[in-house]
Amino acid sequence: MGGFSAEREVSLSSGRECALALVEAGYDVVEVDAGRDLAGQLAAVKPDVVFNSLHGRWGEDGCVQGILEWLRIPYTHSGVLASALAMDKQRSKEAYRAAGLPVVASLLAPKADVCDRHLMDAPYVVKPSNEGSSVGVYIVQQGANSPPQLSAEMPDVVMVEAYVPGRELTTAVLGERALTVTDIVTDGWYDYNAKYSVGGSRHEIPANIPRDIYDACLDYALRAHKALGCRGLSRTDFRWDESRGVDGLILLETNTQPGMTPTSLAPEQAAWAGMDFPALCRWLVEDASC
Ligand code: DAL
Ligand code: MG
Repeated sequence: MGGFSAEREVSLSSGRECALALVEAGYDVVEVDAGRDLAGQLAAVKPDVVFNSLHGRWGEDGCVQGILEWLRIPYTHSGVLASALAMDKQRSKEAYRAAGLPVVASLLAPKADVCDRHLMDAPYVVKPSNEGSSVGVYIVQQGANSPPQLSAEMPDVVMVEAYVPGRELTTAVLGERALTVTDIVTDGWYDYNAKYSVGGSRHEIPANIPRDIYDACLDYALRAHKALGCRGLSRTDFRWDESRGVDGLILLETNTQPGMTPTSLAPEQAAWAGMDFPALCRWLVEDASC
């Protein structure tokens, strides 16, 4: 848990929850705040399995997975390639397109160009191509005169993506099974605060949506999981523009290390499907490999 990404705090929260649940499930647990000398930290602990509770860069993008492969320590969730591919929001789209999954147009551009002029018709979104939890997401509204002035923390190259209107839906996949669909209801936008504050959003589970949309979410999430080569647990996020029926359902991204915090979505779906949090964590440990 922990690590160095912009989602460090989210990861610490996920890690604490998982550690408690794993103790409840009967395992001996050592909590490790992942530092630069992770290999040394692991050599000291000598774990049978690493439960990966990292999010974002270095922990969700194949880097840590590579260290664990090298050390031959079984670990939970996806392997190197799927993690790297899913974390790259631009390249993962190529995999989705090849699998016939619906995504919207996007491009990668130098930060300076994005701040200088509109590179796409508004509304559009600017975001890092390799972060999660809505960190560093700028929405440029229709009619906005000036292009977004990106903060110094934004990477040198960013992703510019057509804005997708509509409801926020998500589906977790566990093993070979897409669990259900959650409709995320917020007053405004499902940003970092809405994601992690208790009461920041309301989760309708299962989503009260037409059957064909529900089934399409399950189908797309499972196909996305397979197209990227994910293992264990993943969660695929959608936007659905109800005025366009099933054509309005767009795949935004797949998270290979979905949040495991008290307000997170995948554990809620597992619970809905009959698997409580300790059982979900146990399932992931049993599924671990390298
Ligand atoms: N990136 C966060 C942790 C999520 O997808 O749940
Ligand atoms: Mg994400």
